[in-house]
Amino acid sequence: MFPEHSIRKILNGGKGCTYLQQCHSFAGLKFMLLAILCCMALSPAAAYDALDPNGNVSIRWDIMSWTIDGYVAAVTINNFQLFRHFMSPGWSLGWSWAKKEIIWTMLGAQATEQGDCSKFKINIPHSCKRNPMVVDLLPDAPFNQQFSNCCKGGVLASWGQDPSAAVAAFQITVGLSGTSNKTLKLPKNFTLLGPGPGYTCGPAKFVPSSHLLSPDGRRKAQALRTWNVTCTYSKFLASKNPSCCVSFSSFYSSKITPCPPCACGCQSNNTCIMGNSTLLEKPGIHTPKKDFTPLLQCTKHMCSVRVHWHLKLNYEAYWRAKISITNFDFRRNYSQWTLVVQHPNLNNVTQVFSFNYKSLLPYQSINDTGMFYGMKFFNDYLMEAGPYGNVQTEMLMQKDKSAFTLRQGWGFPRRVYFNGDECMLPPPDEYPFLPNSAQLYSFGIPKVTASTLLMVWWWMWW
Ligand SMILES: *[C@@H]1O[C@H](CO)[C@@H](O)[C@H](O)[C@H]1NC(C)=O
Ligand SMILES: *[C@@H]1O[C@H](CO)[C@@H](O)[C@H](O)[C@H]1NC(C)=O
Ligand SMILES: *[C@@H]1O[C@H](CO)[C@@H](O)[C@H](O)[C@H]1NC(C)=O
Ligand SMILES: *[C@@H]1O[C@H](CO)[C@@H](O)[C@H](O)[C@H]1NC(C)=O
Ligand SMILES: *[C@@H]1O[C@H](CO)[C@@H](O)[C@H](O)[C@H]1NC(C)=O
Ligand SMILES: *[C@@H]1O[C@H](CO)[C@@H](O)[C@H](O)[C@H]1NC(C)=O
Ligand SMILES: *[C@@H]1O[C@H](CO)[C@@H](O)[C@H](O)[C@H]1NC(C)=O
Ligand SMILES: *[C@@H]1O[C@H](CO)[C@@H](O)[C@H](O)[C@H]1NC(C)=O
Ligand SMILES: *[C@@H]1O[C@H](CO)[C@@H](O)[C@H](O)[C@H]1NC(C)=O
Repeated sequence: MFPEHSIRKILNGGKGCTYLQQCHSFAGLKFMLLAILCCMALSPAAAYDALDPNGNVSIRWDIMSWTIDGYVAAVTINNFQLFRHFMSPGWSLGWSWAKKEIIWTMLGAQATEQGDCSKFKINIPHSCKRNPMVVDLLPDAPFNQQFSNCCKGGVLASWGQDPSAAVAAFQITVGLSGTSNKTLKLPKNFTLLGPGPGYTCGPAKFVPSSHLLSPDGRRKAQALRTWNVTCTYSKFLASKNPSCCVSFSSFYSSKITPCPPCACGCQSNNTCIMGNSTLLEKPGIHTPKKDFTPLLQCTKHMCSVRVHWHLKLNYEAYWRAKISITNFDFRRNYSQWTLVVQHPNLNNVTQVFSFNYKSLLPYQSINDTGMFYGMKFFNDYLMEAGPYGNVQTEMLMQKDKSAFTLRQGWGFPRRVYFNGDECMLPPPDEYPFLPNSAQLYSFGIPKVTASTLLMVWWWMWW
């Protein structure tokens, strides 16, 4: 697909290197892979993510006016997480009222249950639940029920991907509450689903009133009272097993390092189906379930998603890696997927083909983490398991000659996240090994071809 020969020529200054020749000597730092893996195992168990230490979802309530029996508030949800988005069917926000509040009306969102409103005879509230749960409206909501930044079916992009799409808002008219900031009580016990579990929300806290720009940008209004809730994500709450795994291969070895067996737990290994099963043609088999239970293709890893990193080429001044993401869930399409990779050479990414790429700088000084995401209308939708259930990229990196080496797994990523969840890496002793130089040159081309074929087969079925 890409003019690989010409690129190769340019990069090598006209001097061709074969796949198995080393264009560059191995002089360089010995990479302490074990030390790195050891640090990774120590990542804190708190709701803190080493690759996005400030990531949070902030929910802000701005009281815009008082009413006879309550107030009208604009509620804004900002997803400040760099790479974790809210995919369809989207967010749900819940809380418990502190007093006997009810929701008269809502714009841009709706409570999922009305609850018991039998006390009301003339005007019937939108919801009388003590602990309402609110969801976004769908994009085709009637115009008179919309609100700015609403009606995206609960889908929120991550801050790193698109800050303008990382915000949701709705308006809520509350009754039977305090009607001034003296009698007002803050709602309690906020919960956020995105769409599954994983978020924990802190208590609501009064903060200085926000200044809100009118839609035409010509007037600044000030909220009468503002409070914030901050929610953070913890993978341990979301699920006890990873949902994705990583496999490796390289041009210098015929060994393919598969995902660790049962990387994602093997609970569903008795409900999985083979990729060639005739069951897959049954109507309705691909319909997503309400509780998101997956229907996985049978594999040894039993993960919904596999990320494969292939160390593809070694040029004089550059090297090239290929990344493929494969979906093994027959019941799930991943919209606006994100892939986060940590590798020391990401400070010198020269070109990324067919994915968008953005460096993340969780700690301003270390530029070793980046986010990949699909191109709109091209590959930002990772289709359900099957022939179309994969997306791929190739990436060119300029070598820092003092650090680059093919030894000790240096060319493989240190951490990989898919959709904000950390993927399980193979154990270090399973990495493709670098043949010693005697073996290196005795490798025949037929062997490479055989291993390539094997790999293609393996990508399709494993
Ligand atoms: C939430 O994220 C925003 C944006 O990154 C940051 O400014 C804020 O300090 C964070 N809040 C907390 C409580 O971490
Ligand atoms: C009521 O609101 C005003 C204006 O925001 C503020 O100055 C005042 O401290 C508030 N009073 C109480 C009791 O919270
Ligand atoms: C908070 O919400 C959870 C789940 O909705 C519920 O089990 C718990 O009792 C609530 N706590 C309070 C104080 O309302
Ligand atoms: C809370 O709201 C204030 C005022 O709108 C805002 O400046 C601040 O960033 C918010 N805090 C968090 C943690 O999101
Ligand atoms: C299914 O997983 C269990 C562990 O959860 C394992 O003992 C069993 O061998 C697995 N079965 C198959 C067919 O892989
Ligand atoms: C499906 O593939 C497996 C091996 O991958 C093979 O053993 C089995 O016979 C195939 N089944 C069908 C129906 O083709
Ligand atoms: C995935 O998307 C395709 C095309 O939009 C659709 O036909 C299919 O039903 C979807 N699958 C699932 C599991 O939602
Ligand atoms: C981080 O690396 C990328 C290339 O991968 C580069 O474009 C960017 O300028 C670097 N940022 C900093 C702050 O060094
Ligand atoms: C890699 O990038 C860093 C800054 O991100 C730069 O200082 C350095 O010179 C680059 N190294 C190479 C070999 O291009």
